[in-house]
Amino acid sequence: MGHWKCHEQLERELAEYVGKEAALVFSTGMQTNLGTISALVSRGDVVILDKDDHASIVDGARLSWGETKRFRHSDMKDLEHVLSAIPDKKGKLVVVDGLYSMGGDIAPLPEIVPLCKKYGARLMVDDAHAIGVLGGGRGTAAHFGMTDQVDLIMSTFSKSFASLGGFIAGDEPVVHYIKHFARSLIFSASIPPANAAAALAALDVMRTEPERIQRLLDIAEYMRKSYRELGFNTLQSTTPVIPILIGDTMRTIGVWKMLFDNGVFVNPVLSPGVPEGQELLRTSYMATHTDEQLDRVLSVFEQVGKQMD
Ligand SMILES: Cc1ncc(COP(=O)(O)O)c(C=O)c1O
Repeated sequence: MGHWKCHEQLERELAEYVGKEAALVFSTGMQTNLGTISALVSRGDVVILDKDDHASIVDGARLSWGETKRFRHSDMKDLEHVLSAIPDKKGKLVVVDGLYSMGGDIAPLPEIVPLCKKYGARLMVDDAHAIGVLGGGRGTAAHFGMTDQVDLIMSTFSKSFASLGGFIAGDEPVVHYIKHFARSLIFSASIPPANAAAALAALDVMRTEPERIQRLLDIAEYMRKSYRELGFNTLQSTTPVIPILIGDTMRTIGVWKMLFDNGVFVNPVLSPGVPEGQELLRTSYMATHTDEQLDRVLSVFEQVGKQMD
């Protein structure tokens, strides 16, 4: 499968949407992270990851010739501790998720950006869960009004774009460099034109129907508040990814089954997806969920909650 006009159009429109000079489309989000990180981080460089970063970021770092360091999840003291210990002359790339897929919390870019500047590090944000959701749809950097201060924005088409593929966006020379050094791009087929067209159509909906994004945020607000009122622990979530902490493998599977048998599907997240003792049910929402559906979910959770006691 080749690189067609529709891929180029998608790249132009994505770059414009997230506020960057250029974008490059890969076959999946996984391949985007593998190719981008391994292309940019060379021997002698250091890539610095949040401990909760997505597996594709971790694997991108493993594929690179550089050294990997990790800091405690969104812990700015620990990030500074790690950055300050790296010699000035080494190239540094910090990679964080914009919206964390398990906790539903947002990376504190207003604190991460100044630290990157202080220690001469570049910043890449994986916005797989944030494009189409935060910042009017344009992602985490836009949410904080910091698009110009984030070097690279990555995302996937497998979430809000309802397609398949991924992209990286940034300054034109950097994207050009990635295009010629990312092995997962060079040695793999492009997405089929139908997937590119689907992603373009989704982008069009994001741009022209902002009421859908608002509806999604309203749903998330309502559900988070309702779960908390029912006594469930939704951790630090402030977004449409709402975890329900259960804290034990067998109990999580048991609750998942009770919900499933009552017509509610959620994702059970077990160790090693989360640390032992942090097992949870991940609930996530679509703008097309109706009020009736949401209230039905809440009433099933209420019944199941009573049986858990
Ligand atoms: C944060 C994050 N990054 C990257 C990916 C990989 O994207 P893809 O499914 O397109 O490979 C995912 C999930 O699928 C993800 O949640």
